[in-house]
Amino acid sequence: MQTFHDIAQYRRWRDSVGSPVVFVPTMGALHEGHASLVAQARQQAGHRGSVVASIFVNPLQFGAGEDFSRYPRTLPADEELLTAHGADVLFAPAAATMYPAGKSDMLVMPGKIGEWWEGADRPGHFQGVCTVVAKLLNIILPTHMILGQKDFQQYVILAQMMEQLNFPVELIVAPTRREPDGLAMSSRNRYLSAEERQRAPAIYRTLCWAVNEARRGDRDAAQLGQEIRQRVDAAGLVTRYAAICNRHTLIAVEGAIGLQDVILIAAKLGTTRLIDNMRVDETVPVALTPREMS
Ligand code: PAF
Repeated sequence: MQTFHDIAQYRRWRDSVGSPVVFVPTMGALHEGHASLVAQARQQAGHRGSVVASIFVNPLQFGAGEDFSRYPRTLPADEELLTAHGADVLFAPAAATMYPAGKSDMLVMPGKIGEWWEGADRPGHFQGVCTVVAKLLNIILPTHMILGQKDFQQYVILAQMMEQLNFPVELIVAPTRREPDGLAMSSRNRYLSAEERQRAPAIYRTLCWAVNEARRGDRDAAQLGQEIRQRVDAAGLVTRYAAICNRHTLIAVEGAIGLQDVILIAAKLGTTRLIDNMRVDETVPVALTPREMS
């Protein structure tokens, strides 16, 4: 695998290869979830195509007081993981390469959808995500981009950005990878203390329970949302939101819940923010014990 820190060097490589070029954008601190995105990218690219990953901890998507400065930076280990899973190229620019003026004056604004759920708690976050992904797409020039389902709102917003701003790139969403106890893999899991790590799967168990409840067909969304919050809080987390919304528009469901909906949860565990989601039409794994499901 070749690593490029510089746009001109990357572009020389890009000019020398044909299609497809499958892109996996990341902020590094890579784990098995990222590995599965890269493996999927490898499959999509085939022998003739190329797999490009990027690592850039984007200052624009972190708010004041968030974890930008302590976000784990683990480049050598990340390079190993990417190589092992079939990436051809890593693009790992410095902040000055992405934002030569120190900040980006030109911003991509996601509109109202960027102000709900995660966006309500993290003002400006999705503007930062859209801006950096637009820049990365223009630098990398991929034919495909793979994103994880775990960041569901990010995926929906970026899908809208790519459609509305006419990026000629096919977007692929990959399923969330989970630890054996159901906790969604995330770079932020490494912030958790041993005690917090024990509590963290409550989000997943609550999602499984809630999806089964939602599928009954007679559950009211607002009521179920309340019960989700209670369950997550009872496990010692602090729910930030429990959203039951349409999976294309992310507009909150009123009344009965349908198979086209998704349940999004964000919760704080100590100082760590965890997010997870499940589509109502998703198959709920049978690994949970009856006690855990009740
Ligand atoms: O999901 C992430 O890791 C980031 O938000 C992304 C898409 C790489 C943009 O910085």
